[in-house]
Amino acid sequence: MIEESIKKSIRDIVDFPKPGIVFIDITPILKDQNLCSNIVDAFVEELKDLDFDAIAGIESRGFLFGLMLANKLNKPFIPIRKAGKLPYTTIQQSYDLEYGSAVIEVHADAFKPGAKILIHDDLLATGGTVEATSLLIQKMEGIVAGFTFIVGLEFLNGKNKLAHFSKNIYTLAK
Ligand code: PRP
Ligand code: ADE
Repeated sequence: MIEESIKKSIRDIVDFPKPGIVFIDITPILKDQNLCSNIVDAFVEELKDLDFDAIAGIESRGFLFGLMLANKLNKPFIPIRKAGKLPYTTIQQSYDLEYGSAVIEVHADAFKPGAKILIHDDLLATGGTVEATSLLIQKMEGIVAGFTFIVGLEFLNGKNKLAHFSKNIYTLAK
């Protein structure tokens, strides 16, 4: 089962990046190319009936599998970046997360109005990051088609922030 393989591979880092936070480190997954392929295949299977036009991946860990998945599904990839990194005209959104606050942005020409966008990130914690990404997509008149995460931390109730954007929430490991 993919969930067990993911759980065996990820590790908890206590007090990172701040005291009191248990940080879920997904980098060991990246050393296992078979697991990486299996994760992409598991997402492809989950998404087989979902209609969407492009995948938006969130800096930085959302880039790792977001681009692999977009490539596998032959869809465009849209980078959502922390403020100040994208060179062209951007649309911005601020948000809070478990250990601070930040601003994310997307290129103003990343997709056309009416495009159906699947949002991908490595991990769902409070949901603040993907909520901000959903608001960005809506500001650009896009439609949030769904969400994919490798890991969803259920105790932080992040899914509650997402349900009104889309009910299509796919998490491989809890
Ligand atoms: C982490 C993670 C998600 C977000 C989840 O990213 O990769 O993007 O936090 O938290 P939330 O559900 O509470 O919003 P982080 O901001 O640490 O950046 P990184 O991917 O660049 O390490
Ligand atoms: N993003 C927000 N909270 C996190 C956590 N506990 N571990 C890894 N990434 C996170």
